[in-house]
Amino acid sequence: MTYQHIIVSKETERKFAVAQLNRPQALNALNFELMTELVSAFRDFAKDPVVNAVVLAGNEKAFAAGADIKEMATATSVEMLTKGYLEMWDELHAFKKPIVVAVSGYCLGGGLELAMIGDIIIASETAKFGQPEINIGVIPGAGGTQRLARLAGKMKAMELILTGRQFGAEEALQMGLANKIFPVDSYLDEAKKLAAEIASKPPMAVRLAKEAVLRAASTNLQNDVEFERRLFALLFATEDMREGMQAFIEKRKPVWKGR
Ligand code: CAA
Repeated sequence: MTYQHIIVSKETERKFAVAQLNRPQALNALNFELMTELVSAFRDFAKDPVVNAVVLAGNEKAFAAGADIKEMATATSVEMLTKGYLEMWDELHAFKKPIVVAVSGYCLGGGLELAMIGDIIIASETAKFGQPEINIGVIPGAGGTQRLARLAGKMKAMELILTGRQFGAEEALQMGLANKIFPVDSYLDEAKKLAAEIASKPPMAVRLAKEAVLRAASTNLQNDVEFERRLFALLFATEDMREGMQAFIEKRKPVWKGR
């Protein structure tokens, strides 16, 4: 199958696949079509006996700068609840084989939420993480409040989500978000090496190990992600959300009204 917004390849010898987000003109913003393609690629990986692990990457400048704000700016609460857009992150969460995420440059908003669905994060020295949704009048809506709080603890998640501050690879490493940091010219190869190593292990044991480790952080996760999704959709009924997203598109500072 050919895709428009992602590039998929398979290393049959080393038994892993690579899915690369490819909308460089929008810093890999995750529009509906890109996410649909990504889910379709993962459905194929799930069935393919040659694929024992997956590397999920962007490009050097951006893993992904979040959900596509231009696509969301005019959406209503009802559309956000019914379109099935955010549910696509759930489908990737249900993927049973290990996902090594290779992050360079921007990894923001929905991009960080996608990276946190992965199982291991290899960062380049230039990686810039963050949940900046607050700056456009919303909150993380694809599991970020839940996954970041479970990964980094309540205080850290609260600070990062309430300020929208970007943070680098070193801070991500300290908080247990990134596993390893490499220079930009080698981070992707290192992610592939790790995927190949994992792919060489017994596939059923790897699969059940992933399932077991995920249990440690998953108490009520799905319910809590759905709760967050409803709050996210609710914000699409506010004037501040319209203003925040419009201001981003018009490249100006938003003016908040508190309603
Ligand atoms: N959605 C749509 N377009 C985006 C985008 C996004 N999330 N991020 C960047 N782009 C586009 C820009 O509009 C710009 O397009 P034009 O050339 O047509 O103007 C292009 O990508 C390059 O971006 P910038 O000119 O802004 O590049 P920069 O280097 O000056 O800034 C940046 C980079 C700091 C990442 C900035 O682009 C930015 O702040 N992006 C938005 C980040 C964000 O708020 N993400 C969260 C989105 S909401 C979300 O993800 C909800 C959820 O939880 C599911």
